[in-house]
Amino acid sequence: MFSRSVARSSSALARGFATSARSNRKVAVLGAAGGIGQPMSLLLKTDPLITGLSLYDIRGAPGVAADISHVNTHSEVKGYEKDDIKAALSGAEIIIIPAGVPRKPGMTRDDLFNTNASIVRDLAEACAEYAPNAYIGIIANPVNSTVPIWAEVYKKKGIFDPKKIFGITTLDVVRASRFLGEIKGADPKDINVTVVGGHSGVTIVPLLSQTTQGKDVSGEAYKALVKRIQFGGDEVVQAKAGTGSATLSMGFAGARFTNSLIRALNGETGVVEPTFVKSPLYESEGVEYFASNVELGPEGVKKINSVGELSAEEKELLNACLPDLAKNIKKGVEFVNKA
Ligand code: NAI
Repeated sequence: MFSRSVARSSSALARGFATSARSNRKVAVLGAAGGIGQPMSLLLKTDPLITGLSLYDIRGAPGVAADISHVNTHSEVKGYEKDDIKAALSGAEIIIIPAGVPRKPGMTRDDLFNTNASIVRDLAEACAEYAPNAYIGIIANPVNSTVPIWAEVYKKKGIFDPKKIFGITTLDVVRASRFLGEIKGADPKDINVTVVGGHSGVTIVPLLSQTTQGKDVSGEAYKALVKRIQFGGDEVVQAKAGTGSATLSMGFAGARFTNSLIRALNGETGVVEPTFVKSPLYESEGVEYFASNVELGPEGVKKINSVGELSAEEKELLNACLPDLAKNIKKGVEFVNKA
């Protein structure tokens, strides 16, 4: 049932942005002048469902906004920098956060924690103050820890709504369908791989057995495909040789997630995206946040789908994922509560 919904939203994106009747949404991007922020903001400017785009960065966002604002779509674009975050967040309904440092070769996403944890905490505090009702999409890594950080800040402020905070894991799904398509000589738009768990190395668990094209991939080919989906980000980090990590494909994935969220907020039904949210699925095993296919609705999270039937290999992958994920989550929670 949910794979049909995923198929619908993914193929709609492959044709270009899907639209629906209502169109009056203001989106803020925090970290808009960065490697992800720029191409994602450009794609958001081409989304007909967005009427206002507020681009904020500690530096450079007004220039990016001036440039993007010349694209002849109807949305208004404004740029803000430095201490102008209050104005940037004013009226924002959806806030997407690619602010923070990216990886260099040899680094894991967890190695980014020391720098990005405080950036994300401070941005959460600003959003709590100036846009407490907004839906939040977190791209900044390590997502497995930055989502709990955001949630803890909101809990302290008494405004935590688990239905409104999303870790954006869409790139894992985009990669999975592309890589499986390459092996099968199939068009990725027809392939929807559910990816569950978290967004880092072994916490990324692709459920290939649930796809028509992936269920017969076995042996060494299966192992190589899983590894490529889990560590595909490293290919980009290495190829960029110290200048950053995935930015363009992430810009695409972030814009796709935002479009899905807006369509759901606008009342479209059957919109399903994989995303890392507060989830009951593995809470009893100490994992409070988990990515799975989530049906989106006007309230944000409408329904969290379970992982479904798993193959023996996928059960093993999940067993390897859960302890790491629990550690990453705990680290985020403790960071906010240590003081
Ligand atoms: P980048 O360094 O090119 O851009 C980051 C931007 O954030 C810079 O423009 C910087 O000025 C800005 N920034 C830093 N502190 C800020 C603050 N307090 N407020 C507002 N802006 C601030 O990095 P890139 O490549 O755009 O990556 C951003 C983050 O996204 C990294 O943490 C990276 O690991 C993560 N990422 C996440 C992915 C995912 O699938 N969720 C995929 C790829 C990257």
